[in-house]
Amino acid sequence: MSGSEAAVGRAAASNGSSGEPLLSVRGLKTYFEVGAKRVLKAVDGVDLDVHRGEVVGIVGESGCGKSMTCWSILRMIDRPGRIVGGSIRFEEEELVTKSETEMARLRGSRIAMVFQNPMTSLNPAFTVRRQMLDMIATHDRVSEREATDRAIELLASVGLPDVKRLLNDYAHQLSGGMRQRVLIAMALSCNPSLLIADEPTTALDVTVQSQILELLEQIQQQRGLSILIVSHDIGVIAWLCHKVAVMYAGRVVEAGPVTAVTQSPAHPYTQALLASIPTPDTRGRPLSAIEGQPPDLSRLPKGCAFAPRCPVATERSWKAPPDLTVVAPGHTVRCVLYEGTP
Ligand SMILES: Nc1ncnc2c1ncn2[C@@H]1O[C@H](COP(=O)(O)OP(=O)(O)OP(=O)(O)O)[C@@H](O)[C@H]1O
Ligand SMILES: [Mg+2]
Repeated sequence: MSGSEAAVGRAAASNGSSGEPLLSVRGLKTYFEVGAKRVLKAVDGVDLDVHRGEVVGIVGESGCGKSMTCWSILRMIDRPGRIVGGSIRFEEEELVTKSETEMARLRGSRIAMVFQNPMTSLNPAFTVRRQMLDMIATHDRVSEREATDRAIELLASVGLPDVKRLLNDYAHQLSGGMRQRVLIAMALSCNPSLLIADEPTTALDVTVQSQILELLEQIQQQRGLSILIVSHDIGVIAWLCHKVAVMYAGRVVEAGPVTAVTQSPAHPYTQALLASIPTPDTRGRPLSAIEGQPPDLSRLPKGCAFAPRCPVATERSWKAPPDLTVVAPGHTVRCVLYEGTP
């Protein structure tokens, strides 16, 4: 199934975007001081909304700020990095100004996370039981017995077999896919309203990847969970998400419903990303990867950051960053080609 065919299915099942967003990020800036006078703009004015029950994807090449956007939302940016501007509203609360204690309480309970490498996210020295129970105990005062029952239920709900035996296993005894399922079960243990998943399938074999994506879709539908998922693979995003934000050089260059963005991509960068997905016709032929490299985020060009690689850049592209243009309802783009269009 092609990315765009899948997108049609997902969009049809979309819960819509009405009402207050669960998560609303505005003008988020996360900078790293990397030298005496050098600032690396990892996240440079990102806007992002996730509504209840919605799956939103962030896609883009390596180094474009996808992970830093997620870590900023979780307020897990370490020095020399710092959130220098913008707002992160979650369930009507501002996260940027929250104390570390308040954030620690929120992480893992109302917002849960799943990361790329399921091996390093699990502690090799403890059994699955110990880690599940510790996770449950961090946020809920329940007896060991109740916590074990909950752990069994959660592990079974993410499709793991023989759960009682699995509780006594260590991470190295499990396959990559099983480890990621355990981590997803742990993430769900406190009934979060938002799950942030940063490349949750990248470290897995292709067949296991699709099983984990199917699990995420199933969990989302059963629990009405909201998911913010990062991938460098627009095909994965098209399959799973209702909406997508395409990032380039720390900025969202295009955003909108997945069907609109994948079927009528406006930004030349999105068009190039889509052209790089293998289809039945192009399989076996060399990938039309985008020529050139993303820019150094500490030396961004004055104008559009994609201009040096863009086949349709104009003189205007080099002058100042493009304004945000609405090309269709809910579909926005930052490209000079659309500026001034209604
Ligand atoms: N500790 C750090 N110090 C300086 N720069 C950093 C640090 N951590 C990340 N960066 C920079 O921030 C930018 C954005 O990185 P980020 O990890 O968000 O990219 P990404 O889109 O997630 O890429 P990938 O697909 O490879 O995971 C990169 O240029 C990276 O070099
Ligand atoms: Mg990343």
